[in-house]
Amino acid sequence: MENWITSHDRVLAQRQAEGWMFLIEAARDIRTTGALAPSSPALARALTDPVRTLAGRPLNILEAGAGTGAVTRTLIPLLSPGSRLDIAESNPRFTARLHHLARTHPHLAGRRQQVRIHSRRVQDLDTDRRYDVIVSGLPFANFLPDQVETIMGRYLEMLHPGGALTYFAYLGTRRARALLSSRAQARRHHAVEEVLAGYQRRYATGCWTVWANLPPAKVWQLTRPAPAPAPAPAAVGARR
Ligand SMILES: C[S@@+](CC[C@H](N)C(=O)[O-])C[C@H]1O[C@@H](n2cnc3c(N)ncnc32)[C@H](O)[C@@H]1O
Repeated sequence: MENWITSHDRVLAQRQAEGWMFLIEAARDIRTTGALAPSSPALARALTDPVRTLAGRPLNILEAGAGTGAVTRTLIPLLSPGSRLDIAESNPRFTARLHHLARTHPHLAGRRQQVRIHSRRVQDLDTDRRYDVIVSGLPFANFLPDQVETIMGRYLEMLHPGGALTYFAYLGTRRARALLSSRAQARRHHAVEEVLAGYQRRYATGCWTVWANLPPAKVWQLTRPAPAPAPAPAAVGARR
């Protein structure tokens, strides 16, 4: 019991420290940090759902914008032997935190090479690797429409046919922006939503609202279509 209390206290202390770190980074640069606090376990669970669906198979997974590792911590125990998790995170203070998480996570003991942390923007990731699942934590609502178009195009390109992408958007941000920021900002936000709506129309295979997060968020799942099966060869000697 005492051991449980100690480890429970340790987890709480760690969550608190990460909460503060996130807030400090948000104060430094709210545009790229995109939130005041890490995602809740409920949001992390919804974002990682496609990995759970494919559980047991060796998978290539990409997480973009991992922050302090709220979603990474849900992903790591889902990594089966032979799976690999690439993480692209642009803030070097967050990548230092993620390196610490990968070094100390008990599930990775003896197989730390399963997780690779790239300290760069996801659009600058130089890789030929194709992924079964991409989990994006990027704050698209703060980006320019062209940036979102580039990143979404790159995500689709990096997915295996049949592979899944998840990302989230906080509820109510457009209305808040329309009330609180300039017209130019509201127009930019609307244009970003239009870009995302285009991808949703073509590729969406799921959408859920997660209320147990501050603020609540909508999670989208997009799937890169698998190629249509080749037509069956005509039967030899078939009559015309
Ligand atoms: C809203 S936070 C999400 C953090 C974490 N996934 C979570 O859910 O708690 C967005 C994260 O994306 C990172 N980020 C922003 N732009 C990025 C980019 N172009 N490439 C990679 N990471 C980026 C930020 O530094 C931040 O850690």
